[in-house]
Parts: sequence; structure tokens; C-alpha cells
Amino acid sequence: METPSLFQSIQEDLPEVERFIQTLAGVDSPWLAELLTYILRPGGKRLRPALTLLAGKFYNYDQERLLTMAAAVELLHTATLLHDDTIDRADVRRGVSTVNARWDGSVAVLAGDYLFAQSAVLAASTGNMRVVQLFARTLMTIVDGEMRQQKSAFDWNQTREEYFGRISRKTASLFSMATESGAVLSGAPEASIQALISYGYNLGMAFQIIDDILDFMGEEQEMGKPVGSDLLQGTVTLPALVFMELNPGDDSVRCMMENPGDNGHAARVIQAIRTSAAIPQAYKVAGNFCQKACSGLASLPSMGPVESLRNLADYTVKRSY
Ligand code: IPE
Ligand code: IPE
Ligand code: MG
Ligand code: MG
Repeated sequence: METPSLFQSIQEDLPEVERFIQTLAGVDSPWLAELLTYILRPGGKRLRPALTLLAGKFYNYDQERLLTMAAAVELLHTATLLHDDTIDRADVRRGVSTVNARWDGSVAVLAGDYLFAQSAVLAASTGNMRVVQLFARTLMTIVDGEMRQQKSAFDWNQTREEYFGRISRKTASLFSMATESGAVLSGAPEASIQALISYGYNLGMAFQIIDDILDFMGEEQEMGKPVGSDLLQGTVTLPALVFMELNPGDDSVRCMMENPGDNGHAARVIQAIRTSAAIPQAYKVAGNFCQKACSGLASLPSMGPVESLRNLADYTVKRSY
């Protein structure tokens, strides 16, 4: 499923956000301009800004402020990717070399800082205090999530709750910020804001679970980023956790985490997980989060955007990149 077809009710505004993002590369300093042009070129799915616009469609659609906020949300996401790829030493993102691979990690860290600040400027320019606070808190939460992930690396003995705690912070928090900010800026009543927060949060949980499944099952070409690397880097995600739950007598994941240099063993473990019942079970968990995401949508005014949000939940579990 192509993402643009999902966004019918915002099909004129999403390209505006894209154009606006491109203008942000037009800075005085030639080197910074070159770097920003490389980082901001179209390439990502632009899901999060689409969520902000869709969430803003139910009440007073304040186009200028919503476009600005949507761009802020995408820049915050982009900045976290720059830092994430530097931490993970990833070499491909959105089908091209990462900044850390093409230049180096220090360039990527500085570019990420620049984009964090740029997105804060945009969020603040909406003039809405709740949104500014939400922005800052979300950034804190994402960092907390990434730190928990680092701390738990190579720990095979974790619970699903710990995993959910990590992905809720590193990913779902930004999805719920995307929908909450859109709802707040359109003057939605609090009950509708809460329904959209719950939608964004649960969609974000499903989205990360699918990303974690695709790390086992996806194609690097299609994903535009390396696959098969989470477990090799010690990141224990839902497919591996479910695999261990289903096979309590099998200590292969534990051995892999305790002997990270054994590539032959690692390849066998990854293959065993790929072909196990853990994959359909993890899909089921993602599907449940999507259902939960949609469960509050009935309380919103019944308009086109509700259909888009439902389709987006559907797309999230069916996507292959
Ligand atoms: C990647 O997000 C990071 C995760 C939360 C899994 P996306 O898959 O939305 O990345 P882009 O923006 O489309 O490149
Ligand atoms: C999402 O997790 C990263 C952030 C929230 C910054 P991943 O580490 O799984 O993302 P990818 O797979 O590198 O895109
Ligand atoms: Mg990563
Ligand atoms: Mg991933």
C-alpha cells in the first residue's frame, strides 16, 4: 500500500509541509546548507507529520500553525534518526548513506543537535504553551527510551513489559505527540484530544513492533536501511522475547547474547526466530495495539480523516517497509 493514497484528506497539505522542510536547508553557511539538503531531501515516509495534519482536521484547521507543527514533528524524528544511526553505527538510511557513514559521527551529532533546535523553534512559533511543553517532554522521553535500550543491551532475561516500556518511550511518545499537537492546535475539546493521543500512542507501539519484526523478516533494499541487526547489536525485541517464551528449554538466544562474537551461532538463532511461531504472534500483538488505537475513533466527529486514521492503522501492520 502506498502511503500517499492513505492521506486523501490532507493530500494538498502534506506537499506543503515537504516544501517548507526543504526551505529550512537554505542557510547562509554553505557547508551547513549542503548537509541539511542531504538530510532533509524527501525519502522518509513522512508518517508523523501526516498524523499531525490528520489530527488537526476535526475542528478548527489552522493551516499555518498545523503545517509548522507537522514540520517540527518530522524534524524531531529526523534528528533522533541521525543520533540513533550514530549510536548503532548504521550505514544506510532511507536508501542512502547515513551522515555518520558518509561524513562521521561528530557531524551527525552536530546536525542532530541543529535539527532538535530547529524543530523547537518551529514548535515554539505556534505560540501554544502546551505544545511547547509537550515537545520538550517528548524529547526527554525519547532519550530515556534510547538509554533504557542501551542499558538492556545483551540482557536476554527481560520481560515484555520492559520491552513495551522502551518502545513506548523511544517511538510511541513521538507518535502521540504528533496527534496531540495537531488536536491541541485545532482547538479540539479535551475528550477528542485524549482519543487522538490514545490513537497516536497505540499506533506508535504497533509501528515499532512491526519495525522490529521487519528487522527479522524485511528486505534491506525495500526498507532502505540494514536489517537483521537488532539482535546482533544486543537489542532484544518482541520476536526474540516471544521465541524464548515459546521455547523455555532452548537457551540459544541466551548463548548468543553471552557470546556476541559467534557469527555462525547468531545466524542460526536469527533463522530459527524467522521461521518460528514468534513472528505471527508478534504480528498479533501489533494488531491488538492497532485495534486499541482505533477503539476511541468513534468518539470523534465522523469525517473523512477518521477513515484515513483507520486505513493508516491497517497499513501499519501490513507494511513491508
Ligand atoms: C524509523 O521510522 C524509526 C522507527 C521508529 C522504527 P520510520 O520507518 O517512520 O522512518 P522514515 O521516516 O520513514 O525513514
Ligand atoms: C527507533 O528504533 C529509533 C528511534 C526512536 C530514534 P530503531 O532503532 O528500531 O529504528 P531503526 O530500525 O534504526 O530505523
Ligand atoms: Mg536504529
Ligand atoms: Mg529498527
